[in-house]
This record gives sequence, C-alpha cells and structure tokens, in this order.
Amino acid sequence: MSLIENTIDALTLPGRGILAADESTPTITKRLNAINVESTPESRYDYRHLLLSTPNLNQYIGGVILFEESLTQTGPHGKLTDHMQSMQIGIKVDKGLTTLPNTDQEKITEGLDGLGERLENYKKEGARFTKWRCVYDISSHKPSSLAIDANAEVLARYAAIAQAHDFVPIVEPEVIHDGTHSIDECYHASSAALEAVFNALKRHRVDLEYMILKPNMIAPGKQSNDTINPEEVAHYTLNAFMRHVPAAVPSINFLSGGIPADIAYQCLQEMNNIGDLLPWRLSYSFARALQEPCMEAWLGKEENKTSAQAKLLEYAQKNSECLADFQK
Ligand code: 13P
Repeated sequence: MSLIENTIDALTLPGRGILAADESTPTITKRLNAINVESTPESRYDYRHLLLSTPNLNQYIGGVILFEESLTQTGPHGKLTDHMQSMQIGIKVDKGLTTLPNTDQEKITEGLDGLGERLENYKKEGARFTKWRCVYDISSHKPSSLAIDANAEVLARYAAIAQAHDFVPIVEPEVIHDGTHSIDECYHASSAALEAVFNALKRHRVDLEYMILKPNMIAPGKQSNDTINPEEVAHYTLNAFMRHVPAAVPSINFLSGGIPADIAYQCLQEMNNIGDLLPWRLSYSFARALQEPCMEAWLGKEENKTSAQAKLLEYAQKNSECLADFQK
C-alpha cells in the first residue's frame, strides 16, 4: 500500500475524528490568555503535551493537526510528536490570511511559495497529512465571486501540491460563523464556496479519494437572533453537500467554528442520524469544540491535568460515538 493510502485509511478508521491543535501562535496566545495563562514556548509545550498524551485518545482520534512549532518542539517530556500514540501527524501548512485586493476586505490565504520543499521537511518529521484553511465572510455583498474563485484556486493548488508529495490534504473552506446572517444566507454562501472548490479541485486533477473536506456546518450567524437548531443544521448542511460534494470524497470532517461544544456535538449526531445512506463519512475535526472543555478544566494548573485530559477524552468519545453505524 502506498504512503497516501495508508494515511487516508488511518484517518478514516471507524469511529475516529481528527483533533485540530494547530492554532497559530497569535490564536493560541488568545486562548491561553483567556484562562490567565501566559503564552510562552514552554506553556504551549505543556498544554499541547497534555492534549497529545491523553491516555487512550487514539481510540477516538485518528490524527492530530499541529502547528509548525509543535512538530519539532521538545521539552521536559521529550519531543511532542513522540506522544502521538498511533495518531497520524498532520500539519497546518498555510501561512495565514491577507486582504484580497479589489474586494471589500475579503481574505485570501497565503503559503504556496516553497510549499513542496517545506512538505519534504515536514515528512522527515513524521507528518503525513496537511491542512489549508480559506475563509469567507457573509454580508449582503459577500462572499464576492472574486473571493470565491480566488480561494478555490489556492485550495486546489495546495491540495495538488500536497498529494504530489504523498500527503493527504485537508481542504478547509470555512464560511465564518460570526455575523448576523440567516441559515439561508449561510446555505447559499457555503454552496457557492463548495461548488467553486470542487470545480477547482477537478481542474487541478486532485485525487478526491485521497483528500478530506473540512467544512463549516450550515447554521445561522452567531450574532443573528436565530438559535441553532441541530436538526435544521443537519438538514441544510446535508442538502448542500448532496448537491456539491462528489461521492468520491471519503470523509467530511467538520470544523466547529465557534459553535459551542455541546451544540456542535448534537449537530454532528443529527447528521449521522440522517446520514446512514450518504456516500461519505461524516466526522469531526474540531479545535474549540474539543479543546474548550479541556482548557476550562485545566486553567494552566498541573494539578488539573488529569481532569483536563478526562474532559478531552469525554468529548472525543461523545463525538465519535455518534458517528453513523456504518463507520464503526
Ligand atoms: P474550530 O473547530 O475551533 O473551528 O477549529 C477548527 C480549525 O481547525 C479551524 O481552522
């Protein structure tokens, strides 16, 4: 079996999700500061060691996405990646967002230059899959067709480069949850983004069998007056995916996007209740919806480490147990 076949098999083992622990340094700093922990290389090591060394995490998690710093970082417990149990090592390879000229402050993701060379170095450190995130805001005139096309093109170029170097690419078009938009507006924006992404993937001859889609769930905006109804989210989300995601994609692993952990879990459960006859696995690749309960239990204190790990395991288990039977 080839390297990329092995990786996709490991990531799509029955009942497994993906843990996103790839916050950039500014983002993890914000999260650590929120629990009154100073963000230093040492505190980031401690926190990420806590996550990775959670006993039995590999029963529910098939792979963990890391930020570049974590891939080579060592500390009191040795190299962080030596604690991966049997979980696949993933790496965020984009270099973040910049403004897309000639739009109303819409974003494009950078990082294609030199990507092939970086991938060869990541491979030597044991990385086997990659992630690239593009974002789309919703307003009366966003996302624009320019932002939709430009982001689709970079996502597809990234995925093609990753596969050329034997990595499984996670393709992440994220329609941002922040905003006052309705679920219908999220449906239209997400559908347009997905349509353009799969056209671009086809144009760039990306092997759909060896990639993972990491989309947002289709939901009303965080600042809208509408509450999130998991059954409605499942209905809208699967409706859009049936129209825009080819059956050859083996797995859809949702991001949580700021939807609270217990609601994100219910949405995943609803989708899997409907999802028995669908062609793809419907799994998760959460950051906040897995890490927030764990961080709140930890609060940066060594004595809370065991209870924080128990929270992470609890949420991984809950999410994995709701995956449809055919994935188990
Ligand atoms: P959230 O689950 O917190 O949205 O993070 C997922 C992710 O990896 C964003 O790129």
